[in-house]
Amino acid sequence: MANTFSGVEFGANLTNKDVPSTDSLATKLLDSTSLSVRIATVSAGALPFLMCHQYHPGVLAYFEPRNVATWPQLSKAGLPHDPPEIYDLDRFLCQSRRLARLFTQISLPSPSRGGFLTDSILPILTIESTCDETAAAVISDDGAVMGQCIATQEALHERFRGVVPEVAARAHLERILPVIDTAIRQAEVSPDDLDAIAVADRPGLAGSLLVGVVAAKTLAIAWQKPLVTVNHLHAHLYACQLSCESSVYPCVGLIVSGGHTSLYYCTSPLDLEYLGGTIDDAAGEAFDKVGAMLSLGFPGGPAVSKLAAEGKRDAYAFPRSMVHEKHFDFSFSGLKTAVRYAITGPGQQDFASLKIDPTIKADVCASFETAVVDVLVRKSRRALKMRHCKQLIIGGGVAANGYLRDQFHNAAEKDGFALTIAPPELCTDNAVMGAIALEKMRRGDFASFDLDITPGLQRGF
Ligand code: KG4
Ligand code: ZN
Repeated sequence: MANTFSGVEFGANLTNKDVPSTDSLATKLLDSTSLSVRIATVSAGALPFLMCHQYHPGVLAYFEPRNVATWPQLSKAGLPHDPPEIYDLDRFLCQSRRLARLFTQISLPSPSRGGFLTDSILPILTIESTCDETAAAVISDDGAVMGQCIATQEALHERFRGVVPEVAARAHLERILPVIDTAIRQAEVSPDDLDAIAVADRPGLAGSLLVGVVAAKTLAIAWQKPLVTVNHLHAHLYACQLSCESSVYPCVGLIVSGGHTSLYYCTSPLDLEYLGGTIDDAAGEAFDKVGAMLSLGFPGGPAVSKLAAEGKRDAYAFPRSMVHEKHFDFSFSGLKTAVRYAITGPGQQDFASLKIDPTIKADVCASFETAVVDVLVRKSRRALKMRHCKQLIIGGGVAANGYLRDQFHNAAEKDGFALTIAPPELCTDNAVMGAIALEKMRRGDFASFDLDITPGLQRGF
């Protein structure tokens, strides 16, 4: 279904069945580049190797945890050529890092050579693969979306009731090139028209991040473009700026996603001071786990939110952890346990076989959602007060929650602060928020080619 944002029509979100086969991928990519970028399907069942012969005689991008065939190029390039274990992620990481070292010998155009610091920047390609959405977008220098595509993996992870990192990495691998290709075609640009390739390199799942970073590096070599890195969390907050005509800075920024719940004081899109964050579950994770306990499918957030609208918000007195403490850390694991006890009582329980009355389900959802939002509102208000700040911005998947949006709007009216919540279509993971790369380019902040992933959260960044 087509959506609109910034006056540009986009849509074409891919589902599992839309993702083309590896062979048609190879043809597509060859069509869209004048250079010799090749995807070789190694053998039946093997995933693609992305190869570039223009600048290096051997393999430049080792795109796959399984090395199925013996490739003379692989051994020439000093890469392993025996098949590693399919599910050995450590080995995949280790091999990819070896490859990353090879990359250091390759030079990309520097900003000064490419003329990237002139007043006008050409469109950029942004790539997002930090968790379970594979996304790409083409963004013009004023932040307008020229094309974008998101391939969601929800259906793949549903039966596990959570994101399985190995499954996610493999799905990214299959989808990343058609997704990039779709975004570029939708934007009606050729690689020559692009000024840079931006990729989210942190934080996220290691295997997922690697797919995006290796794809970005490979295309950067093939198309001779500079690389820019995107901090996924900063990008979630930048989604708020994208919907505003005037600057939202300085502000307090709240990120509420599946992996993170944190407060920052932000003086610019790229200057963020960490105030505090969750010490256990993230808000979205708690929504997902409560959804799983109530057999509401995955991800649980939207389903819990829908049921909550029918329930009584004060039916259960769920805890509001650390709400009276002066710091800005959060904890949602106690709340999650309280929900569990409300459903089953203490002790082991097989949730799948539980028959829960629909009214109780709705009441649990409503009381749970109220407790989460209450904590988020109280802590954000206090952060604004402490920093004498009059602007709050909120991004991340949970920011799509209707009750959260209403409660924050009420608080803003009461306390007199300005509030910007990311537009719902930019709350969950997407590549449009990678437009933050334009801010880095304006500062001349480009990545070097030995770029590696940073999966973990670095506190303070
Ligand atoms: O930002 P996001 O797409 O991924 C991460 O960076 O983690 O956030 C996904 C999270 C999931 O936990 C999902 O359940 C939650 O956002 N979510 C919601 C809603 N929509 C998505 N949670 C509550 N209410 C919603 N309407
Ligand atoms: Zn996210």
